[in-house]
Amino acid sequence: MSAGELFWDVVPYVTLAVFGVGTWWRHRYDKFGWTTRSSQLYEHRLLRIASPLFHFGILVVIVGHVIGLVIPQSWTDAVGMSEQVYHNQALVLGAIAGVATLTGALLLVYRRRTRGPVFMATTWNDKLMYAVLLAAIIAGLTTTVLGAGVVGEESNYRETVSPWFRSIWILQPRGDLMAQASLAFHIHVAIALALFALWPFTRLVHAFSAPVTYLFRPYIVYRSRDVARKDELVGSPPRRRGW
Ligand code: HEM
Repeated sequence: MSAGELFWDVVPYVTLAVFGVGTWWRHRYDKFGWTTRSSQLYEHRLLRIASPLFHFGILVVIVGHVIGLVIPQSWTDAVGMSEQVYHNQALVLGAIAGVATLTGALLLVYRRRTRGPVFMATTWNDKLMYAVLLAAIIAGLTTTVLGAGVVGEESNYRETVSPWFRSIWILQPRGDLMAQASLAFHIHVAIALALFALWPFTRLVHAFSAPVTYLFRPYIVYRSRDVARKDELVGSPPRRRGW
């Protein structure tokens, strides 16, 4: 077994373990830090453009990944979709979504660097997270361009990366398949794994909670004046007994 095969067999599980245990740890010990640490209060004009561009872009990118990685090539063959048609739609949709995501992410970084109060609220943790996030997006877009044969040799990731991805989840890792993919895919997926390992320790944790609470949030927050419930509120003084 080559070092490459071993890497693609083992590292995904290490990443999943760090991701799972890290998320549990963060929730257990930093529940009140589980937030986007929104900077909307400091600046909202640029944010109003950059944030939706990035978030809607990344949603389409995620849908594209699910289709490309989870659905076997034999299924799209079975419904009569040729490899050429698949690649063409993946290139067009993937490039549009990828460019929107990259533009949004670059604008978010630009805003962080140039808007004083936002910059002041930016930690080293954020900087590392943005660097790895940008690298993952740029490397992903590179694979789309190379993989569709626009530049360089065409390589069908649905014969290497996708079956490897599925093999991880059924606990029968096929690092040998991933090892056969081109360098561009190795770089993109290695950066993505690094991003997943960092995930629980950054503001990216908001992805698990923000969309859920955002969709179902009440327009007006009502707070109970019920005295009996006051005791349950964090930070409230203990209720006096007797008179
Ligand atoms: C283990 C995880 C991942 C795997 C196996 C993976 C694999 C791939 C593959 C095979 C492509 C080429 C798609 C095509 O040309 O049709 C791609 C593209 C791309 N990837 Fe990933 N990726 C992963 C994680 C990520 C993450 C975490 C990000 C961003 C944060 C990301 C961002 C992108 C982008 C922007 C593209 C190009 C545009 C697009 O396909 O929509 N990927 N990825």
